[in-house]
Amino acid sequence: MPIKRENTTGHNQAIPNHDDHSNLVVVDHPFIQIKLTEARDRGTPHWRFCTIVREIAALMLYECTRDWPTKARVVTTPLEETTGVQPDALLTLIPILRAGLGMTRGMVDLMPEARVGHIGLYRDHDSLEPIEYYRRFPTNMADGRVLMLDPMLATGGSAAAAARVLKDEGCEDIRTVCLVASPEGVAKMRDEHSDIPVYAAALDRELNEAGYILPGLGDAGDRIFGTEE
Ligand code: PRP
Ligand code: URA
Repeated sequence: MPIKRENTTGHNQAIPNHDDHSNLVVVDHPFIQIKLTEARDRGTPHWRFCTIVREIAALMLYECTRDWPTKARVVTTPLEETTGVQPDALLTLIPILRAGLGMTRGMVDLMPEARVGHIGLYRDHDSLEPIEYYRRFPTNMADGRVLMLDPMLATGGSAAAAARVLKDEGCEDIRTVCLVASPEGVAKMRDEHSDIPVYAAALDRELNEAGYILPGLGDAGDRIFGTEE
């Protein structure tokens, strides 16, 4: 379970909980692991895969907003006045197109006030380098926390490139959220963006020669949108 601490910017930050990776939080809840296992199964149809990705994203939002800033809100119950809390910071979700879109709805269902920006990136099949083709962000995005969403952290090239774009936009409180991470991808994020915690439902074994995560779950975008060949 991540512990909280005050960081120098005044935000509370989760301390990554993985022994081998100082930037990694593995969200190891049985609900998530049961759903992830179903997602990994090649026999799971795309419509079910899509639902599972959405549900895991919602469960992960719970963990990566554990230290979400709140402020007092006074309400009157049918019996008396009491003080509760309300959000005290903006939250912006940044799905990395395409596959990150599959995670967005689960989070928006839980936190409808979240704004959503988009970064379009695809991995070149030969070089595995990310190619950017789209960006559109809400105003004042840099004033709050930003969650980058992408089910797969493979070489880490796409997440590292997206993080550079967000930092160029002035964002300082960034977290990346994925379903499956590779050790290589987590290491790349640590090397290039040590200030950005990586939240993953699982840390898998390795990448294959084509840059796919093993055991992984295949091409997440294709499985979400039913575009497998
Ligand atoms: C997949 C995935 C990530 C990226 C991960 O996207 O959704 O964005 O690959 O790989 P990396 O860590 O090595 O960069 P893909 O390029 O297949 O695009 P898509 O979502 O449009 O299918
Ligand atoms: N992108 C995916 O969708 N899956 C992988 O295993 C690697 C990159």
